[in-house]
Formats: sequence, structure tokens, C-alpha cells
Amino acid sequence: MANNRKNIFLVGAAGMLARMVIQRAPSGYDITGVDLPDFDLTDRDQVLTLVAEDSPDLIINCAAYTDVDGCESNKELAMRVNGTGVGHLAEAARINNAILVHISTDYVFSGENDSPYREETQTDPQSAYGLSKLMGEQAILDSGLSDYYIVRTSWLYGPGGKNFVETMLRLAAEREQLRVVSDQVGAPTFTADLADAIFHLIDKKAPFGIYHFSNSGRCSWHRFAEEIIALAKVRGLEVKAESIEPITTDEFPLPAKRPAYSVLSNNKYKTATGVTPPEWEDGLCRYFDIRID
Ligand SMILES: NC(=O)c1ccc[n+]([C@@H]2O[C@H](COP(=O)([O-])OP(=O)(O)OC[C@H]3O[C@@H](n4cnc5c(N)ncnc54)[C@H](OP(=O)(O)O)[C@@H]3O)[C@@H](O)[C@H]2O)c1
Repeated sequence: MANNRKNIFLVGAAGMLARMVIQRAPSGYDITGVDLPDFDLTDRDQVLTLVAEDSPDLIINCAAYTDVDGCESNKELAMRVNGTGVGHLAEAARINNAILVHISTDYVFSGENDSPYREETQTDPQSAYGLSKLMGEQAILDSGLSDYYIVRTSWLYGPGGKNFVETMLRLAAEREQLRVVSDQVGAPTFTADLADAIFHLIDKKAPFGIYHFSNSGRCSWHRFAEEIIALAKVRGLEVKAESIEPITTDEFPLPAKRPAYSVLSNNKYKTATGVTPPEWEDGLCRYFDIRID
């Protein structure tokens, strides 16, 4: 009898998105998860050896150096993990005839647009993190691998990771007043919806290439915080905060420059899969359903 099961080599398996990829994988997929300290994607020999041993149908790379401000002071590490390391995975995918799914970011753009970024919009990263992630994309394009999906996403949150929702809930329980940036606009994205999107692209055999995926709609961080606090109250969580003051980016300086406008166009993804990403408010409600206090 033919074996139709597919093997996934999941890189960064302990991370926030990868956990959800494991949970949301449809039946028919077997997953081998690897992460630091046992597996380091910057080690080319290790990548080539372990991928050859596993002989996967798919490599899904959820690993990255994701500390955006840390990347500014550790540029070399950022480029190695998010840039050249991704090239090792692409090389391994090519040698082993595997499909590579790689996650990238809205930070590859300047953030100066006023309409949603499309896949072919000129990139222009403004931070070391954005530049390193763009290098990773370029390493895939330069590798000669044809079977890849590069999925750019934005404002990711989900169980098991440091994320904006958890930060707001913690601060709201501690403080009477919150101050949140209101001049940056983007689309918050629930890891469960991004994980599903990865499997939609694969299962529907979408043409290989670059895709944008975020939850539908858009908001500022301030509006996102308002929705988080409103839901927290409805769900009976401890909320001390009585108001959320909108502030400007200049009032909350950070080492890495953030894009002012981060909205990604989902049109190519929708056309390729026939699936419309859920609204961000809907994703947030479902996150509250599964998160653990
Ligand atoms: N979070 C966001 O808002 C956001 C937005 C847009 C795009 N993205 C992208 O989405 C993807 C998933 O993000 P996430 O938030 O789920 O990331 P995450 O929670 O930080 O997980 C990343 C995982 O990669 C591991 N890792 C780091 N360096 C590695 C190396 N050299 N070799 C092997 N594994 C390594 C990390 O291990 P350690 O924890 O031990 O370092 C961690 O387990 C990333 O590509 C990220 O760039 C994220």
C-alpha cells in the first residue's frame, strides 16, 4: 500500500509559531522538531547531515533571531541566523528534494507606504533585524532552490511566546494607566491562523514563491491594546488599568526603528488558496479561548 504520509523537518521547534505548527498540522504529517541547543542552523555541516538523515518532504523554518532590538547590537549574529543560516536550509532542501517553507516579516519594508504592501513591492529594511531577514530571503533565492514558500507575516502572537498581548495583560494587571503607541499601523496575526495558512499553501499546491499572510483588517498598537483590555474585562481577568493613553513613536524610543505602516496585502495568498484570512479581532478572541493565565 502506498504511504502518503509526509515528513516535516521543523526548525525552531520550541518557538511560538512552531508550537502552533505542531498543533495545527493536519493528519498525514509526521514532524521531526529541532531547535537550539541541539540543532543550530548556522552550522552548515549539521544542517546538511541532519536533513539528509531525516530525508523530509518539507522543511519548515520557524527559527530566527527575533529580538528586534537585540539585533541592533548583535548584527553579526542576526545576519548569521536570519541570513546565511537560512541559506543552509535552502541548500539542504535542494539537495534532498524537499520543499522549504520559510517565515519572513513586514520589517523587510520601509514602513512608509500608505497602502498594503504586495509581494513585489520594493523592499527597504530600516533595522538590522529587517535587513537580516531580507538576507535570509535572498539566500533562498540565490540557492537555486525552486520549491519554496517565503511567507511574510506581521505582529505575531500566540501561546508560548513573548508577545504584545501578554505584555499588555501583564501591564494592565499591574498599572492604572497604560501608554501605547498609536502612530504605527499593522495587522496583528494569531499563530494558529498563520500555521493553518502554511498548510493551506502546501495542501492546495499553491505556486511556489513569496506570499504575504496576516490576519485581515488593520489597527494601531493602541487600538490593539484597547481590544485586548476590553476582552480581558469580558473574560474576567484582572485589569487595574483604567485608561490607555495614545502616544507617538517618538515618545517611546527603542533601539530599532519600527515601520510606521506594516499592512501586508493578502490578495496573492487568497487567490492561490481560495481562503480569506480571519479578521484580527476574531483571531484575538480565539487566542483568549486557549491562552493560559
Ligand atoms: N514575533 C513576531 O511578531 C513576528 C513578526 C513577523 C515575523 N516573524 C517571524 O516569524 C517566525 C517565527 O517567530 P516566533 O515569534 O515564533 O519566534 P520565536 O518564538 O523567537 O522562536 C524562534 C525559535 O528559533 C530558535 N533559534 C534561534 N536561533 C536559532 C539557531 N541558530 N538555530 C536553531 N534555532 C534557533 C529560538 O531558540 P532560542 O529561544 O533558544 O533562541 C526559538 O526557539 C520568525 O521567522 C520571525 O522572524 C515574527
